[in-house]
Amino acid sequence: MKKIQIINGPNLNLLGKRETDIYGTESFEDFYEDLKQIYNSDVQLAYYQSNVEGELVNKIQEVGFSFDGIILNAGAYTHTSIAIRDAISAIKVPVIEVHLSNVYAREEFRHQSMISGVCKGLIAGFGLESYVLALDSFLS
Ligand code: DQA
Repeated sequence: MKKIQIINGPNLNLLGKRETDIYGTESFEDFYEDLKQIYNSDVQLAYYQSNVEGELVNKIQEVGFSFDGIILNAGAYTHTSIAIRDAISAIKVPVIEVHLSNVYAREEFRHQSMISGVCKGLIAGFGLESYVLALDSFLS
């Protein structure tokens, strides 16, 4: 059975409460419960969230040699973090970058990603469905 790690970066713990016009009204915890029910028999899922850059690096390193895939929404660190980019380059496990919003339809500072170039692919703009699309890609 495949092992997939979902990692969420800063402020994504506030999903459901935060800028709901952009990010929707469902919390990630509720969505994750549904995801586990639906994919129960096909995949071993793990979920981690941190607002702290170094903790995200630690988690990427921790799972980066043993899991089958990482689904990463690095939040605002996407646009700034060379440390997260280097962590992705350092590991063996493929990473799919995801975003709820279409970052390319938003402010210009969100058009730059430090991590896209070292990820397997990028899915943005489908709300929580972005995670489902990434998961399906790892499972197909
Ligand atoms: C985000 C987009 C980022 O620009 C932003 O900083 C976030 C969320 C998204 O999922 O759409 O925190 O990664």
